[in-house]
Amino acid sequence: MTQEAKETRPCVSRRAFLLAGGTAMSIVMVQGIPGLAGAALQRAEYPRQKIGSLSALKVDTPQYFLYPWKDVFSGCMLVKLGVTAGGGVGAKRDVVAFSTLCTHMGGPLQGTYNAQYKAIGPCPFHLTSFDLMKHGMVAAGQATESLPQVVLETRGDDIYAVGMMGLLYGYHSNLAPVQR
Ligand code: FES
Repeated sequence: MTQEAKETRPCVSRRAFLLAGGTAMSIVMVQGIPGLAGAALQRAEYPRQKIGSLSALKVDTPQYFLYPWKDVFSGCMLVKLGVTAGGGVGAKRDVVAFSTLCTHMGGPLQGTYNAQYKAIGPCPFHLTSFDLMKHGMVAAGQATESLPQVVLETRGDDIYAVGMMGLLYGYHSNLAPVQR
């Protein structure tokens, strides 16, 4: 191929096409899962805290606790979904825990667990619901960030919270306690 033909050909090389296509695909994949990619990257370690026991949990019966601190932004919910979930622990990997503050404007989600859809919501402020089987991904509504998920571990029958995935509403940084 002559130099002139190379400069005027209408298509890019296969290598350039693949590089450009790969970049676009990565962006689409990250943008196509609202909040999920960010949540996966933002795992923060907090002090280990026992929050319950596997044998005491009943399917679709949430238990509430405070984590990682004891302030108004630390409300969380532990629930056995009865179906395998992302980040779940236990024999069926169906035990998960999440913040109960909506990521949109901090609406209170406590008491809005939906057993039929394994979701929490709708938020009483602007109606966002979060899918608890998919790392708290937004299922519908105004929020754009996934609900922060409590990182769980088990030792025998005991369930421990050991960290959070996602930024808690009201915090400017996941590792910083609230300033008063
Ligand atoms: S505060 Fe929850 S949807 Fe707006």
